[in-house]
Parts: sequence; structure tokens; C-alpha cells
Amino acid sequence: MAVLIIDGGAGALLYEAEHRHGIYDALQVGWKVLTRGGSALNAVSKAITNMEDNPSFNCGTGSVLTIDGKVEMDASVMTEDGKYGAVGAIRQIKNPILVARKVMEQTDHLLLVGDGSIKFARLMGFKKYEKITKRSKDRLAKLKKEGKSDYFPKLKKYMKLGTVGAIALDNKKRIAVATSTGGINGRLSGRVGDSAILGAGTYADENGGATATGHGELIMKLFLSKLVVDLMKKYSAQKAVDIALKQVRSQKGLCGIIALDKKGNVGIGYTPKSMSWGYIKDGKVNIF
Ligand code: GLY
Repeated sequence: MAVLIIDGGAGALLYEAEHRHGIYDALQVGWKVLTRGGSALNAVSKAITNMEDNPSFNCGTGSVLTIDGKVEMDASVMTEDGKYGAVGAIRQIKNPILVARKVMEQTDHLLLVGDGSIKFARLMGFKKYEKITKRSKDRLAKLKKEGKSDYFPKLKKYMKLGTVGAIALDNKKRIAVATSTGGINGRLSGRVGDSAILGAGTYADENGGATATGHGELIMKLFLSKLVVDLMKKYSAQKAVDIALKQVRSQKGLCGIIALDKKGNVGIGYTPKSMSWGYIKDGKVNIF
């Protein structure tokens, strides 16, 4: 049995219809890999690459900006056998998830950041790519104009959320998780969020996988994805998510999480008003 679950980020859904189309497209791309006997790792890589190329999502081309107007992205990938790779605050790259996968497959490291990650990407053949969408520029301009943020009060600015994530279980019972983000609008340059941190934004082991979206600093403090996967030793994916989200709520955090256990059960939960997500199981597409 193969299953693929994807999220397009938690938070105020500004572009709901676009997100639903985008989730559908990414599910189709990843599902094609799984139905042709491909690996969970290839399925999540393809799905997240598709979302990074879709400017509706806050990752890759659609990334929101740092306070000084730059795109800096975090991404990570993990498989159930403990392999992990990530990039943090990477710039000038079209698909950070593919660089994260190269870190996993071609280095002895878990995480490369900043200039070192760009240098490594070029070595791996990734070309320079520097697109900033008008929407991202407008969001930063709005933030600066409004001058307030619930999440980064020290910056006294305004923010929106929107990391993307994918988890697949393939026919050989392999699990892979991938997470990619453009970060949070208006953060300081050099800030690395949960999407690059093992156990925070991304985690997988033989019990299942989880990927988180939302307030990165809280997700890191809770090791939210690992917490959910650990809970799946005992509980279904949904029950594990429900238990973990109680901790998020108790800290008044804005986070969402998707999970998939080794039996192919999906789990989903979020504390903001909305989150775009969907999954394919038994060939049936479900979009929310
Ligand atoms: N969860 C995305 C971030 O905090 O960067």
C-alpha cells in the first residue's frame, strides 16, 4: 500500500484556491512516482520540488523575504532508516529540497548553511537562481508599513506562515519526509528555522514520519516532528498529532503538522484557523 500526504502551510490562507490546486498538482506528481514503483524518497522530492516551483507557496520561488529583502530558504529530508540532509538560510537556488537531498546522499554532514550551502550546491551542479515574486515584495512592504508582529515582537513587525511538507509510504514500506520553506516574513537575515533542524520540522523512523509548519522557534523547542513520530510507537498518526498539538496550544503557538504512520494512517492538526493539505490513499485524492 502506498500513501502520500502533503501540506502547503498553516496560517492565514491568503490564496486558498491556488493552494488547493497546488496541493492537487504536487499530489499527482508524487503519486505518479509511487504508482510506478518508485521510492518514497523520490515521491516526496518530486512533490516538494513541484511546490517550490509554484509561487503560491512559501518556499522556493514563492519564498517570503528577510527584513532586508532577501530570499533565504530552509529545507530538509529524512528517510525511515535514519538518513537526513538539510540546508539552512540558503540563497540563489531554485530547489533547496534537492540540495538538502544531496547533503544527505553526498556528504557526511546533516546540515549546511549560508555561503557554504551555496558553494556545495554549485559543486553539485545547481545553477544560480534569484527570483523574488512581486507578492513577496508586497508582503514585506506591508510588514514594514504596519510595523507589528505577534510572533517576532522584538522586530515589531507583521508576519504570515507557510512551510510546505510531504510524507510518503511506498510499496516496500519505506517512509520519506521532506520539508521546504521560505521562512517567516521579515525575520532577521541569517535566522534558520525548524525546517532545517532534525526532529523539529522533519522526522522519520520505522514508526512513521512527520513534518511541521508554523512558528519555527516553538517547533524547535518542542522538537515537534520527533515528538509526533515517537508517539506513533504507541498511537496512530492522528492520535499522535492530537497529543503533540496540546503542547503547542498550551504555549499559544501557531503550528500545523502532518503525519503518516507505518500502517498508512494519516494524521493532521493545526492551531491557526486554516491549513492547506491533502493526501492520496488507495488511489483516492482528498484535498482540504
Ligand atoms: N516553520 C517555518 C519557519 O519558522 O521558518
